[in-house]
Amino acid sequence: MTSRYYVTTPIYYVNGAPHIGHAYTSVAADIIARFHRLDGREVFFLTGTDEHGQKVEQAAAQAGQSTLEFVDGISRNFKDMADAMGISYDRFIRTTEARHKDAAQALWRQVAENDHIYLGAYEGWYALRDECFYSEDEITLLEDGTHIAPSGAPVTWVKEESYFFRLSAFQDQLLALYEAKPHFLGPAGRRKEIISFVKSGLRDLSISRTSFSWGIPVPGDPKHVMYVWFDALANYLSALGYPDMQSEGVRFWPANAHIVGKDIIRFHAVFWPAFLMAAGLDLPDAIFANGWWTIEGQKMSKSLGNVIDPRDLASEFGVDAVRFFMMREVPFGGDSDLSRKSLINRVNVELANGLGNLAQRTLTQINRHFDGKLPEWGETQKDDRDLLAQSSLLPDLLRQHVARFALTDGLEAVWKVVRACNAYIDHQAPWVLKKTDPARMGTVLRTLHEALRHIAIVLQPYMPGTMDKLLTQLGISQNARQLADLAQGDIEAELPAPQGLFPRFVEEGA
Ligand code: ME8
Ligand code: MG
Repeated sequence: MTSRYYVTTPIYYVNGAPHIGHAYTSVAADIIARFHRLDGREVFFLTGTDEHGQKVEQAAAQAGQSTLEFVDGISRNFKDMADAMGISYDRFIRTTEARHKDAAQALWRQVAENDHIYLGAYEGWYALRDECFYSEDEITLLEDGTHIAPSGAPVTWVKEESYFFRLSAFQDQLLALYEAKPHFLGPAGRRKEIISFVKSGLRDLSISRTSFSWGIPVPGDPKHVMYVWFDALANYLSALGYPDMQSEGVRFWPANAHIVGKDIIRFHAVFWPAFLMAAGLDLPDAIFANGWWTIEGQKMSKSLGNVIDPRDLASEFGVDAVRFFMMREVPFGGDSDLSRKSLINRVNVELANGLGNLAQRTLTQINRHFDGKLPEWGETQKDDRDLLAQSSLLPDLLRQHVARFALTDGLEAVWKVVRACNAYIDHQAPWVLKKTDPARMGTVLRTLHEALRHIAIVLQPYMPGTMDKLLTQLGISQNARQLADLAQGDIEAELPAPQGLFPRFVEEGA
């Protein structure tokens, strides 16, 4: 039986166009999904769009379009971005789909039947930008008289009839969960934050609104629409076919990993497990939050006009170079800055000069001096065996790093081997062996080829398109590219002519 793995991205609000921040979380989740497929698991990878709520309704009105027309257009834009970035989702969910609405209502009923929902009246602060209720002690009064949430979002005072979820009843169970399963929530800093938030006391959560109508009607009381976060979180279940617990998809529940940004950790690590506990459903295994991107040191914002469409970067640098940079620049989980200079530097130093040059040097010599035929192994020397031992550790190292969502450490492990290969090729100088010891030259190139085969196979989740090219140049057929295939080494004897993988980027005018 193959084991299953279920990983999700957030579903993004359709109040504006996708940008590099959305692409980032999706690329990270994609690497995780692809890695588990590579390791032989049956994977379900979910992404999509979050289309209800007041914020989306307002954005549509401002655009002068009907809400439905507006959300259709932006959802399509997000899907197009996902495709352009190589996101290998198995399903792209939209919360405006009828089957999602049914599922969210079923979840509501299940929680209500267990007596965790009651009718009351909400009075307090609400931030439209975050679609989040905040308590009094989280609010700051600015000099100009406006009130803001810790996120910086302006809040308004809301007073309306509302259904409440008995969140307060789950405080102890949640704390016990974080305690019992430290890996439930990462990275560590976020875990601390959430534990202290929950310890400070949980109040019941308003989960319906009556002041607008763009949402899923509350079962049995349609003048209320569900709070957009109740609706949105339910997507992780509805995409699988819930509430039909016999459906094909539901066997993927519980999720192995919800990958989210640090801004929405509270919803995923507090509200979501509490809703699930209240419904009597299993909890996801892990929530991992990525950090925040700034652009050239500044917050990304429409008003600053510095919002970057990932598709523009991809068409300038190549999609794999952008995926690489995103994961390489700062340890996954931390905040990062996108600067053009550091992107170009990474591309040139690590991709073009590092891996690209290594592949080019190795394959060109095989092509030239061995007629494009894979050289036979001769007797190996210690240096060869050391390099082979190092590269053979990659699959296990990557398994360990990806299991901890340490996606940057995964790349660092691969680049250690890339650097070792470049040092080896310089030291062995196979081009000199051409005249003196052609058999030795063959063994050296064969050693490099074998190290490159490992490097290319484990890098597929990060840079799928380029590694496909490299594996083809290495003579590795499509059906020999799984982690499990590394042990066997089924390789074509005849290699195609090598081609460059990563062009060096030269800034115009530089
Ligand atoms: O919160 N840096 O949707 P959203 C890094 N619909 N990541 C960023 C980013 C940045 N500057 N900007 C955005 C929502 N992100 C809800 C989610 S899930 C059931 C519902 C990423 O469109 C990051 O993953 O506001 C963040 O959590 C997400 O986009 C927020 O997207
Ligand atoms: Mg947001």
